[in-house]
Amino acid sequence: MSQTFNTIKEQEEALLCRTYGRYPLAVAKGKGSRLWDCDGKEYVDLLAGIAVTALGHCNEELAQVMERQARKLIHVSNLFYQEEQLELARRLLATCHLDKAFFCNSGAEANEAAVKLARRYMQRVLNKNAYEIITFSGCFHGRTLAMIAATGQERFQDGFAPIPEGFIQVPWGDMDALRAAITPKTAAILVEAVQGEGGIRPLTPGYARDLEHLCREKDILFMVDEVQCGLGRTGTMWAFQHFGLQPDILTSAKALANGLPLAVMLAGDKVAAGFVTGSHATTFGGGALLTAVGAKILDIMERDKLVARAGELGARLKTRLETVGKKLPGTIREVRGLGLMIGVELAIPGKAIWEELIRRGFVCNLTQDAVLRLLPALTIDEADLTAFADTLEDILATR
Ligand SMILES: Cc1ncc(COP(=O)(O)O)c(C=O)c1O
Repeated sequence: MSQTFNTIKEQEEALLCRTYGRYPLAVAKGKGSRLWDCDGKEYVDLLAGIAVTALGHCNEELAQVMERQARKLIHVSNLFYQEEQLELARRLLATCHLDKAFFCNSGAEANEAAVKLARRYMQRVLNKNAYEIITFSGCFHGRTLAMIAATGQERFQDGFAPIPEGFIQVPWGDMDALRAAITPKTAAILVEAVQGEGGIRPLTPGYARDLEHLCREKDILFMVDEVQCGLGRTGTMWAFQHFGLQPDILTSAKALANGLPLAVMLAGDKVAAGFVTGSHATTFGGGALLTAVGAKILDIMERDKLVARAGELGARLKTRLETVGKKLPGTIREVRGLGLMIGVELAIPGKAIWEELIRRGFVCNLTQDAVLRLLPALTIDEADLTAFADTLEDILATR
């Protein structure tokens, strides 16, 4: 490690709460799908800020919108009407069957909004004492107190007792367990269309339809978390659209403003009636600067057909990685994913492979200790994906 890197690392240890396990990399700048560290070394970025910078780092068109909007209006709070917010709401709602938007600041907050809306709809619109939210093993919904309850994993809850009540978890894929968990107190299920942190596990078409049917049968809400997998990454605007679903509530965040903190909860009119003036609020949510950027992102995605591109590039990369697995038996257990959301589950310890990829100039994530998680920008050059697959093959061949 260089002197500069070590100095940055020491300063961070002195200055910041120690909540993050950092990569051995101090990022100095980015452009498109390239990052440069503090020593000037270049990397191909296959992580995109964890599915956030979907249009690449420091996108020039977005920089222009930011500059223009920063001189016009950045923030006035949600006490005022703002056209920028309406424009983004209009565009997002045009992508699906839902009718109303609530803007907030992070994925966890969008999920909090979803849970609050589900409970209030049950309790104030339907007059039912229903409040329980059912989630699924392997899920990740965020780090607020309610969302660590929803996520249900001991490692995220350790030392934070008391954990809020009202969340029940059932095994992923087990319809009998889900059916047994539903009681008159159940308000909704909350499910990721593609589990991200859980190791890139997409719903299967049959399971997805069964989940929705059961919600309709039991008269509970069907809520889909697309914080990570939404906004074109999987090859459709929303991942649930692969399965022909019609969730009652949808949450999204990461790629919504390419790195500025913006999240959204979308709901149908009937359910959205659960919120009335004063039910829920946030100071920053959907400010003019953030939403102007969000609208421009949707423009660019449409103009450059990035959603279809994500589907095509992702399918080719997945096939290529599967070929590597067949060529080198015992190295890759499975390649999973949809579009440019791909998990390579290794059959050998993942950390050394992931570290070697970084040494060779490729940044991706390692989740569940064994799954290389690829979430590149939707604008990435296919040559970069090919170079990654070649490099991974080369590393695996020598293990
Ligand atoms: C599916 C999913 N939901 C919720 C969250 C939480 O989002 P945030 O970190 O913006 O609160 C994440 C973050 O990784 C996520 O992947």
